[in-house]
Amino acid sequence: MLNFTIETLNLSRQYGKLTAVDNLNLKVPFSSVYGFLGPNGAGKTTTIRMLLGLIRPTQGQVQLFETPLENNPITLLGRMGALVESPSLYPHLTGYENLEVTRRLTRAKREQITRVLSIVKMEQDAHRRVREYSHGMRQRLALALALLSEPELLILDEPTNGLDPSGIREMRECKRQGLLHTLR
Ligand SMILES: Nc1ncnc2c1ncn2[C@@H]1O[C@H](COP(=O)(O)OP(=O)(O)OP(=O)(O)O)[C@@H](O)[C@H]1O
Ligand SMILES: [Mg+2]
Repeated sequence: MLNFTIETLNLSRQYGKLTAVDNLNLKVPFSSVYGFLGPNGAGKTTTIRMLLGLIRPTQGQVQLFETPLENNPITLLGRMGALVESPSLYPHLTGYENLEVTRRLTRAKREQITRVLSIVKMEQDAHRRVREYSHGMRQRLALALALLSEPELLILDEPTNGLDPSGIREMRECKRQGLLHTLR
């Protein structure tokens, strides 16, 4: 039985002289919804980038599922889904096609596309090109992409950015239903 899904040990990140993250010891219990709040520039996104192996810590370690990230990054990251700031989407493809590209890469089942489109309520617009999408629609699609492989751990950086009031409410509803495990 796992105690912690995420654990950071004296995690730090410098950008030149600036300390963006300073000796962070974070423990996220297994099977929990964890909120991560702080003012602009506090180091939240930097921490999330380190959790996802997108940038290296200058000091300290990240453990996911009680395994150091550097030991087995591909397997560990395969168990996670993430949404970090402006998501990379193919603008010339439709929402559905964007999901299909990721589905093939992650070898998720085709039914997953229908499932995630329904969770983010994007069935209606799935066959429009992403270049025509509004900001909130892109955010919904990015969330659908993060959910596609049924990740055990989902990390969301400001997931309600650009969502309308009902979108924000739906996001909270998802959390309550245990659909989304959130680190914000
Ligand atoms: N690539 C970078 N190069 C230099 N400094 C950076 C870089 N990325 C982040 N920083 C700095 O690190 C600090 C933390 O930034 P970070 O983006 O982690 O904050 P945040 O908590 O996510 O803020 P926000 O709430 O605005 O999203 C800031 O002072 C920022 O300027
Ligand atoms: Mg941020």
